[in-house]
Order: sequence, then structure tokens, then C-alpha cells
Amino acid sequence: MMKSPGNPFVLNTYHGKKYFCDRENDIEVLRNHIDNDRNVVLFAWRRLGKSALIQRFFEELEDSGEFETLYVDLLATHSIEEAIKAITTVTYDKYGKTHSGFSATMQKLFSALGATISFNPLSGIPELSIGIKQPGMEDHSLNALGVFLQERKKRIVITIDEFQQISHYAEKNAEAVFRTWVQLFPDIRFIFSGSHRTMMVEMFAENSRPFYQSAQLMSLLPIALEKYTPFIQGHFEDNGKTISAELIEKIYAWARGQTYTIQLICNYLFAQFNHVEEEDFHKICSDILEQHQAIFANFPKMLTRTQWNVFKAIAKEEPLFSPLNKDFLTKHRLGAASSVSTALKALQKQELVVVDEGVYLVHEVLLARWMARL
Ligand SMILES: Nc1ncnc2c1ncn2[C@@H]1O[C@H](COP(=O)(O)OP(=O)(O)OP(=O)(O)O)[C@@H](O)[C@H]1O
Ligand SMILES: [Mg+2]
Repeated sequence: MMKSPGNPFVLNTYHGKKYFCDRENDIEVLRNHIDNDRNVVLFAWRRLGKSALIQRFFEELEDSGEFETLYVDLLATHSIEEAIKAITTVTYDKYGKTHSGFSATMQKLFSALGATISFNPLSGIPELSIGIKQPGMEDHSLNALGVFLQERKKRIVITIDEFQQISHYAEKNAEAVFRTWVQLFPDIRFIFSGSHRTMMVEMFAENSRPFYQSAQLMSLLPIALEKYTPFIQGHFEDNGKTISAELIEKIYAWARGQTYTIQLICNYLFAQFNHVEEEDFHKICSDILEQHQAIFANFPKMLTRTQWNVFKAIAKEEPLFSPLNKDFLTKHRLGAASSVSTALKALQKQELVVVDEGVYLVHEVLLARWMARL
């Protein structure tokens, strides 16, 4: 059982259905894919709720009694070996211990992987090591993991989050290695997700890439305002507080519908006010931006001068349709269109700037709002 949170607008991980707004259609679509043996790639702009959705969906799959789910996060991994270690750790956490100790099948898996668990003498935390030293061992290890999971009685669904990470691995063939793995175990369902939308789509939509057309593309959109409004009002009212639908609409627009930013603002408003007024919302926004000052102030140092100027101009101009338009260039004194175009490409490559339905946006909402005030 999860502890109930101190504030109903949770900011970190999934905290149970009560604190999770809507996504009913998305869950149905996911369920349909899994029931029909299709792998899925889930992509979206940042912080819309991909990871939380998967956790919510996995809870439902586990509750149905038909499925077992594993959630692997590759964010911190830099090689196939580290990815295998991440998958092994998740597998061990889920199946490693039975009431009678280390299970026999897990022992078999560990010996196939050359894996050992030792206790860090300083922290006392168990640490996993695996013996992928010789070339070719990666395939062998992935195979052993696949066989172990395939032999489970229930159907297995694995989410690999931050999957775009594998295209940065030291090994050039990482995508091919994982593609082969997925193909070898057709009974295991995979959900691939990642926070870098462009890279995720490219991996599955470019015909030269190993994962080309190997999974159903599923795009996650912002939660609809009509669903968010009763969710927010409900939590306020349950605690004897009020907030108007008009104000929620303003919050939603300011946050560009981005789940994280909406949750953050509501979290603060809920904590500080009983009957929220518009000025309270403005105050909270200023406070939040001020808190981020130290982080955001680093951006000019990480970018070239032109990149920074273009970046800032985009934030000030939202919604911007034509960044090379003469009026825009003149108004923000950006100089020649060719150098602006080069700067823009660099910003887009890092997904600092994104194009959504023809509109150029500073991807990170809070950063955009902070720069617009400069
Ligand atoms: N449906 C929801 N209802 C309420 N809060 C949600 C919902 N979905 C996500 N959140 C909250 O929004 C924030 C962002 O969610 P999450 O981390 O799942 O997004 P993400 O798309 O995986 O982000 P990233 O792009 O960084 O990987 C979290 O604080 C999460 O708790
Ligand atoms: Mg995520």
C-alpha cells in the first residue's frame, strides 16, 4: 500500500489512481495493443506523463492477474552491458527472492549471466555485477534473460523507458542487438518510451534503422482541460478549498497543457491558499520562476550568442510560426537569416526548441516563461 501524499498534486512518481487525472482513452489504446500482441512505442513532448501513464497501466495489468510487468529505465546507462545490468536488476527485484530464499530459476539465470550479488561494505546496499567481458556475451546474456522471462506462467510486458539512450551507446550495433532480442521472444510484449521525442520517432520511423516499423507508434497528447478541471476542483473541494474553472483555464494555458507544470502550480496553490484568486496564481508563477533562476541562468553559458538570442526571441514571441521571417529577425535584432537558421537547427537538434503543428516553441515551459520575462 502506498502512503497517501501530503499534497494531492503529486510531483514525482505515480501515486495511485486517486491522484492520477484521466488518461482513460490512452489506457484503453495501450490495453488493446497488448491484448493483440503488438509492441508499442510511446512518444510525447517532455513531462506530459509518459512514465506515470505506464505505471498506471501496469498497475491495471497486474491487478487483472493475467500479466506480470517489468519497468526498466535506461536513462543512466551508457553501454549494452549497463542496459543488461539494468534489466537484470529489475528482474532480480521482481523474482529474485521467494519465501524460501533465492529461487532456483533465478539461480540458473544468474549463473548463465555470470551475475553475482554482493553487499557494498560501506552502504550495505546489495550490488549486482555481471560478467559480460568476452565479445558475444551480450547476446548470450540477453538470451538468458529472454528465456527466463518467457518461461513465466503469466504474460510478460516490459517497458523500456528512456530507450533513445541506446543510440548513444559505445557500441555502434546496440539497436541491432536489441532488435534481435525483441524478435527472438515474440511472447514478450515491449513498450518503448523515451523523453526525447524526435529521437524516439526516428528510431522507429526511419527505414534504415533496425527498429523500423517494429512497433505501433502511439503519441501522447496533453490531458484535456475538460478532464483536468474537475480533477483539480475535486481535490480542492475535498479539502474545503476552492478554485474557479476560469482560473484553471489560465493555469492550463500558461503551462501549455503540460502535465508537470500544471501539477507544480496546483501543488503550490493548494499548499498556500484556501480560496485561490488570480493574483495568487501570478504570485506562485513568479515564485516558481525565481526558484529556477539558478538553473536557467546557465543557459546563456551553454549556447552561442546567436543561439541564445534566437532562443530568447522564440520564448518572447510564442506562438511563432516563421522564425526566418524578416519582421521577426528585425524586431529581435537577430542578424542574417542564414546564421539564425544554423542556430535554430542546433537548438532543434537538442530539442531545446521544438516544432509542434507548425509552431516553434521553447520546449521547456518554465524556461520559456522565464525567458519571456527577460
Ligand atoms: N495523469 C496524470 N495526473 C496527474 N499527474 C500526472 C499525470 N501524468 C503525469 N503526472 C505527473 O506529471 C509529472 C510528469 O510526469 P512523467 O514523469 O510521467 O512525464 P514524462 O512524460 O515521463 O516526462 P519525461 O519527458 O521527463 O520523461 C509527474 O510529476 C507526474 O506525477
Ligand atoms: Mg519519463
